[in-house]
Amino acid sequence: MKNHTETPRFASQKTKKMLNLSNQQPFAQGSNRKCYTHPLDPNRCLKVIRPQNIAARFERQSPAKRLLGKKRLNDNAQEIRAHHQRAIQQCLEQNDEGSAWAHLPKFYGSVQTSLGKANESELIRCADGNIAPTLERLIKEQGLTPELHQGIEEFLSWMRQTKILTRNLLPHNLVVSDRFDHPRLFLVDGLGAPTIPQALDFVPGWSSRYISRKIERFRKRLAWEQSNEGLSWEDFQALR
Ligand SMILES: Nc1ncnc2c1ncn2[C@@H]1O[C@H](COP(=O)(O)OP(=O)(O)OP(=O)(O)O)[C@@H](O)[C@H]1O
Ligand SMILES: [Mg+2]
Repeated sequence: MKNHTETPRFASQKTKKMLNLSNQQPFAQGSNRKCYTHPLDPNRCLKVIRPQNIAARFERQSPAKRLLGKKRLNDNAQEIRAHHQRAIQQCLEQNDEGSAWAHLPKFYGSVQTSLGKANESELIRCADGNIAPTLERLIKEQGLTPELHQGIEEFLSWMRQTKILTRNLLPHNLVVSDRFDHPRLFLVDGLGAPTIPQALDFVPGWSSRYISRKIERFRKRLAWEQSNEGLSWEDFQALR
């Protein structure tokens, strides 16, 4: 079996110099990272970890899990590892960058900033130059239109075809760009799989089954996002 983790390929970085983010406000933030526009390129973004959050998650872990250390809770480290996965590295080795980045922001690896290490990636924008909205926001604002539905199905076919592994798909981790002939989805967070599943990737048929489960769960999640029943996601899942 070929080891795809030793010399992973990423797209090339803008600079190796430290980037100053101190004068900037993040354009968005999730529970784990703050997202900044790259000071040298408006089409790239830099994601910096919010360390307080790693500390809080670590404290909530069982003593056994704490033995595994804090690094596994670092979303930037996880994201780098996620890009080492077989399906992505295969596309890049075969110069098939188009398939890998069709629904993922191009990934440039880690870079030093004044706020610590950041992951550098493509910033997905819309035709008018605005930063692309999340699928969650679009569903809330306009519902699941036929065009959006087409975009979702295209994204799911890409997952099945490329066999790129993701964690649970969440509508706030997908953004939608209108720069194409129909809405195109990009997964901006939640790439990869936990350590053991990612290591099982070489077992024939395993990744297809893993991906089918993720897709099934995502469909349920979309049904929940559109439902007006007032149920929590946990209760909704338990009932379906
Ligand atoms: N490459 C990108 N292009 C456009 N918008 C992005 C991009 N990356 C992130 N965003 C926006 O920033 C938000 C937060 O980013 P991200 O999901 O990476 O943070 P996080 O802290 O890891 O999230 P979570 O709370 O899900 O763990 C996203 O929901 C999205 O709206
Ligand atoms: Mg997120």
